[in-house]
Amino acid sequence: MSLAATIRAEQELLLPTYDRQKVLFTRGRGVYLWDSAGKRYLDFLSGIGVNALGHAHPAIQRVLKSQAGKLIHISNLFYHQFQAELAKRLARISGLERAFFCNSGTEAWEGALKLARIYARANSKNGQQPKQRFLALENSFHGRTFGSLATTGQEKYRAPFSPLVPGVDFIPFNDIGALNRKFDEGVCAVCVETVQGEGGIYPLSQEFLRRARELTTKSGALLLVDEIQSGLGRTGKYFAYQHYGITPDIVAIAKPLAAGLPLGALLTTNRVAGVMHPGLHGTTFGGGPLACAVAIEFLQQLDGLRGHISKTGKYFLRKLQALQETHSSIRAVRGIGLMLAADLDSPDTAKGVVSKLLENGFVINRTHDTVLRFLPPYVIEATHIDRLIAALDAALAESTAAETQKRTRIKLRGANN
Ligand SMILES: Cc1ncc(COP(=O)(O)O)c(C=O)c1O
Repeated sequence: MSLAATIRAEQELLLPTYDRQKVLFTRGRGVYLWDSAGKRYLDFLSGIGVNALGHAHPAIQRVLKSQAGKLIHISNLFYHQFQAELAKRLARISGLERAFFCNSGTEAWEGALKLARIYARANSKNGQQPKQRFLALENSFHGRTFGSLATTGQEKYRAPFSPLVPGVDFIPFNDIGALNRKFDEGVCAVCVETVQGEGGIYPLSQEFLRRARELTTKSGALLLVDEIQSGLGRTGKYFAYQHYGITPDIVAIAKPLAAGLPLGALLTTNRVAGVMHPGLHGTTFGGGPLACAVAIEFLQQLDGLRGHISKTGKYFLRKLQALQETHSSIRAVRGIGLMLAADLDSPDTAKGVVSKLLENGFVINRTHDTVLRFLPPYVIEATHIDRLIAALDAALAESTAAETQKRTRIKLRGANN
């Protein structure tokens, strides 16, 4: 089906949930994608942080082919060879002890919220009301299901679906004073993204995360960390919280875990996991043999890539900072590892730049209206970054010229009236 025919068919047949870019991708290899017309693109988004090893990675293909010929799904009623092995590897790199596997980021986060509530209930003193409240952050994003939405601190996602799950209070990002004021014995968990992703690539401050750890440890509440976007190598360490010298009680992961297959997980301690029992939580698809076998291979590959992620991330950041010096339309550059952003001065400019780059063969995305988000595959090289920076430079220059022309026209019209 052609791009035009696909657009027409989707308009008739799908829920209108996405405002897609008008491009039909048909294949990928490494850091490149090709569309239906055979045009090549450099991928600086990796399916929103999912295709971290790039496309059609030979080791991933090998495992996929081999495992697909043996066993794809078996349900969680039976054992298979890969869940325990994957859990062991995740425990080793996270400093946590146990895993629960599911299918997506939001499902991992839902599991974390449910576990926090059940842990609080199990640990409430006789006759006392169990701790129930969650403290979450403004500008956060934890997913689209009801619990995740309830802890997402952005009205545009929450308001259309209210009333949401009760018992959540919000704190301004990195505001330690507000955290101290709102935290009390009724709080069962503090919820954070180590680096806010969808909200515009904002890393938590060292002081805030350490204070959250201190308060929760002292009161017996849990620290829930959403590393669905920032985890599994994206920031140059296995987990972004490892830049902070703390270990959370529960971590949610997903996106790159199975290199493009749907797989999420929550990781936790023996102490917290001890409140779970068969029947309390579960999933049909989560943690199937195919996804877990691929995830084991992903982790294997990740071992050799962390140094490269840090090095290329620093190079990319320096290049973006240099670009900021020559373009006043870039208000800020931020991020860590290969999770970077350039914050522009207007939503229109950001939208225009994303379209211009796509036209010129570069895939990036815009989040939070003004933020150009870069989540390239971990196998990206400095030469690819140089090419993106040159294209970005040209697109920004063009959009500034167009903006100046627009302003001059408006001024002239005003003077003529
Ligand atoms: C930090 C964070 N949490 C949760 C989610 C939800 O993940 P999913 O779309 O897999 O449900 C996302 C997705 O972008 C995310 O970035």
